[in-house]
Amino acid sequence: AAARERQVTVPLAELHVHLEGTASPALAREQARRLGVAIDDLVDGDRYRWQGFGGFLEAYDRVAALFRTPDDFRRLASNYLRDIAARGAVYAELFVSPDHARASGLDPDDYLEAVARGATDAEREAGIVGRLVVVGVRHLGPDAAEAAARLAAMSRHRGVTGFGLAGDERSGHPADFARAFAIAGEAALGLTAHAGEFAGPQAISETLDRLKVTRLGHGVRAVEDAALLDRLRRERIVLEVYPHSNLALGVYPDADAYPLRRLREAGLRLTVSSDDPPFFGTNLAREYAFAESQSFGPAERLALTRTALEAAFVEEGVRRQLL
Ligand code: ADE
Ligand code: ZN
Repeated sequence: AAARERQVTVPLAELHVHLEGTASPALAREQARRLGVAIDDLVDGDRYRWQGFGGFLEAYDRVAALFRTPDDFRRLASNYLRDIAARGAVYAELFVSPDHARASGLDPDDYLEAVARGATDAEREAGIVGRLVVVGVRHLGPDAAEAAARLAAMSRHRGVTGFGLAGDERSGHPADFARAFAIAGEAALGLTAHAGEFAGPQAISETLDRLKVTRLGHGVRAVEDAALLDRLRRERIVLEVYPHSNLALGVYPDADAYPLRRLREAGLRLTVSSDDPPFFGTNLAREYAFAESQSFGPAERLALTRTALEAAFVEEGVRRQLL
């Protein structure tokens, strides 16, 4: 039965992948060579080399800085979406960071336009639907996050349907970013934020109270607080879960300690995503395989995809076609 079950494939969907975090080490090396930038200390064969969450964020910044032109980003987006479409994905949300574009010397609006074109290319060629979630970078502070929210609010024509908060969760408080989320919310963008990775249940509660998100990036540490689990279930909050990201960053010591099954048993609405696939040695199919390893059978894996499509920041007409 186990062998037969393993052959059951379900359509895949992910709500959370950072665009610059999809670049393979091979591609990074190629970009670095063209630009004359040394990255020998950053790449080790087919893996990136970094230590701890701070080290990961620095490595991410260095990789992002290797992408500079609209064409670079258009290709990054279309290549990633086509790649996961070939593995069975029907929908993905790309997390895009205007602050990283600016650091690369690119106008943020040109960046969004290029990424949107890449998504359109992939839809035409591979049928996969992609939407954009603009993120503020938490450790750059509230003003930068508000600027990102304003840009997002003006960028629906670029395929931007959501706003989120990335960066170092240990920096600042959710309340500091309330204005950024209010700006995005007034523009009817979907709202999500990383919470409950390095900070515990309290940070998740505050994020819900202050930022009015319908989805949480991570959220897994809610498992430490029964009252919070009740709240997440009652409010139908959707968790974007990235098992291999959490394992690579040491949030949990090993797969046996990972709470995916427990979150499911608590009745939460779950999805899985790859986050920054080559940084964490993963891809979307592996995240679904991880769910399978925590005894999610075909119906439960299909539920991950259905939940993702239900919670997607996408136009209702498109959602209906995908569901
Ligand atoms: N930026 C890129 N990837 C990130 C992650 N997984 N968490 C927070 N910020 C990020
Ligand atoms: Zn993330």
